[in-house]
Amino acid sequence: MEEDLNAILSEMTLEEKAAFCTGATAWSSTAVERLGIPEMIVADGPHGVRRMRDIHAVSQQSLPATCFPTASCSASTWDVDLLRQMGEALGEECIALDVDVLLGPGVNMKRSPLGGRNFEYFSEDPYLAGELAASFINGVQSRGVGTSLKHYAANNQESYRTRISVEVDERALREIYLPAFEKAVKQARPWTVMGSYNKVNGMFTSEHRPLLTEILREEWGFEGVIVSDWSAVHDRVASLKAGLDWEMPGPQDRHVKALVEAVRSGELDEATLDEAVRRLLRVVFKAKETPKGGSFDGDAHHELARKIAAEGMVLLKNNGLLPLKEKQTLAVIGRAAKSAHFQGGGSSHINATKVTVPFEELQSRVAHAGLTYAEGYPEDGSYRQELIDQAVEIARSAEVAILFIALPAFKESEGYDRQDLDLTQQQSALIQAVAKAQPKTVVVLNNGAPVGMREWLDAVPAVLEGWMMGQAGGAALIDILFGRVAPCGKLPETFPLKLSDTPAYINWPGDAEKVSYGEGIFIGYRYYEKKQMPVLFPFGHGLSYTTFEYSNASVSAKAFKDIEGLTVSVDVTNTGSRPGKEVVQLYVHDRASELMRPEKELKGFAKVELQPGETRTVSIGLDSRAFAYYHPRYRQWITEDGDFDLLIGASSADIRCRLTVTLESTVTLPCLLNVESTVGDWLADPRGRAVLGPHYEKLEAESRKVSGDSHEESALGMDIMDMFKGMPLVSVVLFQ
Ligand code: GLC
Repeated sequence: MEEDLNAILSEMTLEEKAAFCTGATAWSSTAVERLGIPEMIVADGPHGVRRMRDIHAVSQQSLPATCFPTASCSASTWDVDLLRQMGEALGEECIALDVDVLLGPGVNMKRSPLGGRNFEYFSEDPYLAGELAASFINGVQSRGVGTSLKHYAANNQESYRTRISVEVDERALREIYLPAFEKAVKQARPWTVMGSYNKVNGMFTSEHRPLLTEILREEWGFEGVIVSDWSAVHDRVASLKAGLDWEMPGPQDRHVKALVEAVRSGELDEATLDEAVRRLLRVVFKAKETPKGGSFDGDAHHELARKIAAEGMVLLKNNGLLPLKEKQTLAVIGRAAKSAHFQGGGSSHINATKVTVPFEELQSRVAHAGLTYAEGYPEDGSYRQELIDQAVEIARSAEVAILFIALPAFKESEGYDRQDLDLTQQQSALIQAVAKAQPKTVVVLNNGAPVGMREWLDAVPAVLEGWMMGQAGGAALIDILFGRVAPCGKLPETFPLKLSDTPAYINWPGDAEKVSYGEGIFIGYRYYEKKQMPVLFPFGHGLSYTTFEYSNASVSAKAFKDIEGLTVSVDVTNTGSRPGKEVVQLYVHDRASELMRPEKELKGFAKVELQPGETRTVSIGLDSRAFAYYHPRYRQWITEDGDFDLLIGASSADIRCRLTVTLESTVTLPCLLNVESTVGDWLADPRGRAVLGPHYEKLEAESRKVSGDSHEESALGMDIMDMFKGMPLVSVVLFQ
């Protein structure tokens, strides 16, 4: 392949190379018939194939395809196998629909629940997001179809997204905003990575050489193509120099000309252009190795979408009302019962092959004793009391009321963020009124990100988070509500008590120029736990129809070297009367570290299915990164000697077992000591202590002679040695 590519490359004119690095249309690369270079077709993702009939069209009705659960739903499964299967199915649909690269998955962190695209992203935790993304990519690419890991990087809000500068410190970037990309690149090798619209610390990511080349390529070993987000390129020459190979969409004659002129003038080294062309040629020809066309098994994919949706739904609260019994009269309330709210707005919007509707599922698949329906709330979000009155009427005369509450599209979508966590006023009033009239009320939510519930949560016995659950979600909701499938979803994003509690609150969404990520590494549960703040529902939370007990937690070694890693095992028993699945979560707590760290961080998880009474041993491996943090002074990940707690739980707030292990670090740190370093720094580093220690101890002995051990006696009324420790070495010497 390489010789062929070099041969083709050597035949290409400068103009052809420049044009090749820019799209030909909204969804295709530039073909060069003369040299047998075909066009390559891309289409959105990430939870369905949005293949335009006409590749010149930007937004028209796309071809029918399976709309799988959106990322907040599929992430709630915590099931890497299901994500892989979803990827495989999407790969098959890409083949049938003649798509070479699927534009997904999206792995941006959910920095605030207000994010308009949170429904398209996996989690507030980089470990969970990275594991799921890697598995999804492996699934799609196993079919010979490419993916585009997006949006690299730090695209965590919709407000001012095309021009805002994200002001984020190195440690937060490395520990929070990049690791999901890093994990996916290293474990799944996506064919392409898509940039983002925003700037990072003042520089557009499309022109950000440290991100695109130094980190992504040189440090992580990415060998694929970096493609821009659509119309995210401002200076084409600067972007190519930074490492952005392929600008989309096309055509962009002005940018092609700029590249040609830059090479002619010597501003751009033609070898740099050739490198980009070579990388894109590699992907184009790799894509063409997979014959396209045929058809896909829509029914099988629909059933897979239903399985993923059911495993992604999160039972937030249940006072025993669920699962519902059959042969009851049911009051079905809410527009979302008859028009399923199964996906979000924007580039991920799919023309679903079919949609299951909760009300129709109730009619056809449940032996009820009678169904009544009330719209409950209007589509436009206005307040209409008569709709509430009608709903109360049918709720009162039924045995059970089921409320289907969907967050309206005008509240959350790509392109804009939410202004609050609230449902509409009508929806909140509706829930309160219905719950008052009917104690047996279930609230089913369809939303992409956390919503506020405080006005009504105590009044309802059961709440099921259905998310935007994909085209088969209506069927999945019935599967869960009537116990045909046991709920096992776990929250990948914290539900806060109120908006002003959220980590980004005082900095969100910034102004049109910049947004400060002032909370640093403390996003999501990392923040609430550090601040010891209560939340509505914690990260990792999700109930089942059975109960689980954890026992016999053990670890492969009590003391270990970081490079050896560890294996943690625990027995899980289904102590209830119904089958169920449990997601065992493993968090790591560093007892002592030079820099402040979160209380605990997710570093492993495993899902297990258990029949009543069954016990299985779950084992989770931890590598050295599970104990490390990124040190900005050394500009590298480091581990430090010391004790770590391993916390095994059913959620971040429901820890069942604790183990303590002692790590011996094998990390050698560069010696950064200099005369500006404090005496304390010198003493803390063994190499510094070897030099300064004897002098310091002598000085300390002399100072004790004068003031004994009491601080008051010393000339300054304080321990002068403590003062020295905080002083730069050079000042202490001068101080003498
Ligand atoms: C959009 C989105 C990106 C999508 C692309 C093509 O603006 O940011 O996720 O893949 O453009 O539609």
